[in-house]
Amino acid sequence: MNMKFNSICLAAVLLWTLGGCNNASNKSAATGDSTTVSSTKLPDSTGFKKTVKGKAVSLFVLKNKNGVEAAITNYGGRLVSLLVPDHKNEFKDVVLGYDSLGSYQKKGEPYFGALIGRYGNRIAKGKFALDGKTYQLQINDGTNTLHGGFDGFFAQVWDAKKINDQTLELSFLSKDNEAGYPGNLQVKVIYNLTDDNSLKISYEATTDKNTVLNLTNHAYFNLNGAGDETILDHLLTIDADGYTPVDSTLIPTGKIDPVAGTPFDFSKATLIGARIDAANQQLTFGKGYDHNYVLRKGMGLRKVATVVSTKTGIAMDVLTEEPGLQFYSGNFLTGKDHDGKGGVSYPHRSAFCLETQHFPDSPNQASFPSTELKPGQTYKTNTIYKFYVQK
Ligand code: BGC
Repeated sequence: MNMKFNSICLAAVLLWTLGGCNNASNKSAATGDSTTVSSTKLPDSTGFKKTVKGKAVSLFVLKNKNGVEAAITNYGGRLVSLLVPDHKNEFKDVVLGYDSLGSYQKKGEPYFGALIGRYGNRIAKGKFALDGKTYQLQINDGTNTLHGGFDGFFAQVWDAKKINDQTLELSFLSKDNEAGYPGNLQVKVIYNLTDDNSLKISYEATTDKNTVLNLTNHAYFNLNGAGDETILDHLLTIDADGYTPVDSTLIPTGKIDPVAGTPFDFSKATLIGARIDAANQQLTFGKGYDHNYVLRKGMGLRKVATVVSTKTGIAMDVLTEEPGLQFYSGNFLTGKDHDGKGGVSYPHRSAFCLETQHFPDSPNQASFPSTELKPGQTYKTNTIYKFYVQK
């Protein structure tokens, strides 16, 4: 261990009573195996110009009047970069990603920045029944289906239309039986970068057969700047009194447990690292936080979470119309790959995801809000990630 790593450990122990800095991937990042400095430039678009499944892939850039920029590729509808100002008015890229398409296509890629569908998070054993018929999905996560299956929306080429400098429209026809789901599903997602430094994601879908649907975005955020070694020093608030505990394969048990008095309570701003290694079976199952929060109900779009970097002052509010929020603390990031933007590696717990969603495994859980979509109905939901500086 070098001095820097020792002092990080010491600070972590003193400040947050963490269980210890015994994480090999953090070490490799801090010992200089790869740089931990975040890139502040957008990737070169030539790395994304390719034809995949007969369709043209590209990188699209949105920019607002404050110089905030978002780069999105139509491969998986992925948010590749998001440059926002910090407390020194320097721009930081706050999302993890890659400089070229090839890395997004590699096996085991952790869904960086992707549009997720048809079903965000897990469906137990990849099976569900609808109108008396059982559907079998692709099993891509142990015994379960995760994020739609192998042929999920994250791996599809979307049709892209740049509406204006601040708006990108992506659409995709998911065919009947694709990845095992019933119905031809027409999906439209609009990314809109507004002048109040918000990235608004609007989802819309229709089907020609009864189906299930749970769309989300899988951005991995680090408000210190992507490539920084941790998010354990971020303050998190989630407007929820309960969460859905899981079994050892991360399928909800069907219960809603109170967060009060547990490491899951983020109803007041708390460091992500403060209790992440506490002795708690749910944290053991998730290898950290990997749980769906049952958001307090509200009318329409409401603020449900806030995250603040204690280092850069960059703050992010999450607003959604959805009933749930998956808080994932990047527990499966390993720091072993060195193809992050600018050649960085992304160590264990060096990003967090706040995925707005319906609850995992809802098609098999009668007590959870329904995820069914029927012909004649239009699925519509909006999520906003709003950025500002907290001094
Ligand atoms: C899930 C994690 C999973 C991750 C994949 C999250 O939405 O909750 O369990 O490992 O996505 O990157």
